[in-house]
Amino acid sequence: MYPADPLSGLRVAVTGATGGIGRVLVAALRERGAAIAVTGSHRGRLDALTRDVPGLVARVADITDEEQVAGFIDAAAGGLGGLDVLVNLAGLSVPGAIATAPAADLATMLDVNVTGTMLACKHAVRHLAGGHGLIVNVGSAAGLRPNATAPAYCTAKAAVAMFTAALALQLKDEGIRVTHLAPGGTDTPFWGDRPVRRETLLAPEDVVSALLYVVSLPPHVVVRELLFESTGVTRPR
Ligand SMILES: NC(=O)c1ccc[n+]([C@@H]2O[C@H](COP(=O)([O-])OP(=O)(O)OC[C@H]3O[C@@H](n4cnc5c(N)ncnc54)[C@H](OP(=O)(O)O)[C@@H]3O)[C@@H](O)[C@H]2O)c1
Repeated sequence: MYPADPLSGLRVAVTGATGGIGRVLVAALRERGAAIAVTGSHRGRLDALTRDVPGLVARVADITDEEQVAGFIDAAAGGLGGLDVLVNLAGLSVPGAIATAPAADLATMLDVNVTGTMLACKHAVRHLAGGHGLIVNVGSAAGLRPNATAPAYCTAKAAVAMFTAALALQLKDEGIRVTHLAPGGTDTPFWGDRPVRRETLLAPEDVVSALLYVVSLPPHVVVRELLFESTGVTRPR
């Protein structure tokens, strides 16, 4: 006989839940019976998500604002009756040549991807269940291997990779596992109107499959780092 679904009843907080990957993740978690708290900075997008997926704990928060992040995490733990998993998806990239990049764009990439991830982890730690708690920080393949189009984004995601590895060591004795997920390019609104061949990217469902795998492992198993990407062929429809 198979054991009960490990995702059923799991209490999961998701940042960046309103994005292309986040929305698919939230729907999949709900289908598997998890209890979910969600956040994003844009109220309209968060309202749309809560309309589509009833029963979510939802709170608007700018991930770079410590007070708002703490407010979301506390609302998540309060509303769900504790926290088993934090998935950090909030992130963005402003591509472009470094010679013409506005300083504000460079700072935003570090603030959202790096500071935001650190703030969410900081405030989740006190709620995460010792013995089986889990943090999944979604970095990027771009944080492990450079590309020419977005050096500042590569830098921010490299920082996420290092922060995640170091945090795993710091939280080991508290029984909290920490995973770095590093997907390659994925077909979501992340790309805006940039000229990419979207049909050759990962589908958000591919990233969510990896997330569900990591989250469903028993407490004695931790995935330290998972790097995966599209082969570059056109996805089957
Ligand atoms: N798509 C890719 O090719 C790809 C590849 C590898 C890794 N990733 C990473 O995967 C994660 C999710 O990406 P995605 O493809 O789902 O991107 P997306 O569709 O653009 O979604 C980004 C999410 O981040 C949130 N966000 C952005 N700035 C925020 C802020 N200041 N405060 C709070 N939330 C903020 C957005 O919410 P609001 O709009 O409400 O602010 C949205 O929910 C990101 O960390 C991204 O770097 C993406």
